[in-house]
Amino acid sequence: MKIKILTLVILTATLLAGCRQAEPPQPELDSILLGFAQLGAESAWRRGNTESIKTAAREAGVQLMLENAEQKQEKQISDIRSFIAYQVDVIAFAPIVEDGWDNVLMEAKAAGIPVLTTDRMVNTEQEGLIAGFIGSNFYEEGVKAGEFLLKKCEGMSEVKIVEISGTIDSTPMKQRAQGFRDVIAGHDDFKIIDTISGDFLRSKGKECMEYLLNKHEGIDVLYSHNDGMTLGAIEIIEARGLVPGKDIIIITVDGEQAAIDLLRQGKINCVVECTPLIGDTIMELAKKLAAGEAIAPITYSEERVFSEFDADLNDLPERAY
Ligand code: AHR
Repeated sequence: MKIKILTLVILTATLLAGCRQAEPPQPELDSILLGFAQLGAESAWRRGNTESIKTAAREAGVQLMLENAEQKQEKQISDIRSFIAYQVDVIAFAPIVEDGWDNVLMEAKAAGIPVLTTDRMVNTEQEGLIAGFIGSNFYEEGVKAGEFLLKKCEGMSEVKIVEISGTIDSTPMKQRAQGFRDVIAGHDDFKIIDTISGDFLRSKGKECMEYLLNKHEGIDVLYSHNDGMTLGAIEIIEARGLVPGKDIIIITVDGEQAAIDLLRQGKINCVVECTPLIGDTIMELAKKLAAGEAIAPITYSEERVFSEFDADLNDLPERAY
């Protein structure tokens, strides 16, 4: 009888242990809850950014509430409001434009929730609404684009430049334009003859290039604020019987795989890198904020330039976006 009872006890314990092993992993008790309000899915860059955030959250044991605003500021504001109502530990968001956030940020502050901006920045009337920023130095990207152009066109006269810019009033649109202009200022042979917004969309890149080629004769350079719009513009340039990279010098920003491939083929002359792979740093900063620690006001990513002057183009590792 004793042996039977012992066997039953061992059997039950084994079964219970087996059940426990089959359970899905539970979030750590001390894991933080991060609300992330993404602005959309407008480009390969953006999709890579969202993936980087999801993977990093999983690996860091951070519980992630993720919303996608589909390019609408009102939706992004209401996504942030839903995180406040849910009482998340930290809010992070990639602001589609710089202005118009004061009210919702004051609500987050009143609720005691620290806010981190990622990728793009905001203009606020009050101090202290944002705990910190993590992303790219867009001004430097514009500077790098301008520096490539000066090197590439050294000795040329009357260089006609057209610019397809990103979403109006967004940080990358403003700073990429400013950095570029500051570098070519004082070089009188370099003229930006037109600038038009393609909203960071490939489809609009096509429309913009169509418009620019119809309006201007003898365009020498296209400076485009992202790879998606550049790929669209190149389709149009080729459809017009022109050779991208030769008839028109092409300078683009981001560094997605498709752009690096075209750089290798000589259809793009310069790709200024802007990395979307910032998920790990976002998690680190969010954990610090949740623990009540201060963080640096600005954390920039490290980035490089890929251009036709580089010897290592064929040795570059696969891009993750
Ligand atoms: O804010 C970063 C920019 O937004 C990237 O350059 C672009 O591709 C994205 O849509």
